[in-house]
Amino acid sequence: MKGPIGVFDSGYGGLTILEGIRQRLPQYDYIYLGDNARAPYGTRSFDVVYEFTLQAVKKLFDYGCPLVILGCNTASAKALRSIQQQYLPFNAPDNRVLGVIRPTAEVVGELSHTHHIGVLATEGTIRSESYKLEIEKLYPGSTIVGEACPMWVPLVENNEFDKPGADYFVKDSLAKLMAKDPQIDTIILGCTHYPLLMDKIKKYCPSSITLVPQGKYIAKSLEDYLQRHPEMQCRITDGGSCKYFTTESRTKFRECAALFLKEDVVVERVNI
Ligand code: DGL
Repeated sequence: MKGPIGVFDSGYGGLTILEGIRQRLPQYDYIYLGDNARAPYGTRSFDVVYEFTLQAVKKLFDYGCPLVILGCNTASAKALRSIQQQYLPFNAPDNRVLGVIRPTAEVVGELSHTHHIGVLATEGTIRSESYKLEIEKLYPGSTIVGEACPMWVPLVENNEFDKPGADYFVKDSLAKLMAKDPQIDTIILGCTHYPLLMDKIKKYCPSSITLVPQGKYIAKSLEDYLQRHPEMQCRITDGGSCKYFTTESRTKFRECAALFLKEDVVVERVNI
């Protein structure tokens, strides 16, 4: 059966991933699902993030998506492997779920010259050490340091990302990261909300540092994946549409989505 590509996030952040994907692959149909009622996931335990993420993946499968992208670093770090290894083979063997950490890790080795890489992400992603493990596997000898930024997601969710109050938290987290390793020349923005803070990040980050937001790299990786997997590519419908679902209020989603996408969207509320 053919269907759209599902993109899941705990909330709005995955819209930055969806946007990157739709710019590169506009021909396909998409369904975006934000679990806004239960976001943020960043401070939740492995078990809870797995449980919530699996519910969302099942819902997207119910909507007919043969392929789901976890457009959320926290869900990718804490739930992806278990879903791929424990759920899919026994329950949906023909469907696929992909994450955002591996494709991001793949590109940083090429972007960094010093091979000293910084990661800014939620507490859950940093604690999982997923980036460190993936990058070390791909580029042995690299030095990876991370800094959790617990205030950054709330700044975005509360529409404070371009206000003066955000400066303190952005400056503080960047200074803490750089103090851990002054040789860092590349910083992964390892949370899908962070591109909205880009102006502030650029303000407090040395200009010599390469900042790595994820959207365009996830899009390139998805394009490569579909080229390598024609059996999946032919199962994706190509009407160029996008439907939005949220577990929270439709009004709030529409307001916030407009910040991320700079366009008005039609959204339905759903229980998962
Ligand atoms: N979108 C999530 C991520 O990329 C951050 C938001 C959350 O904590 O739920 O990690």
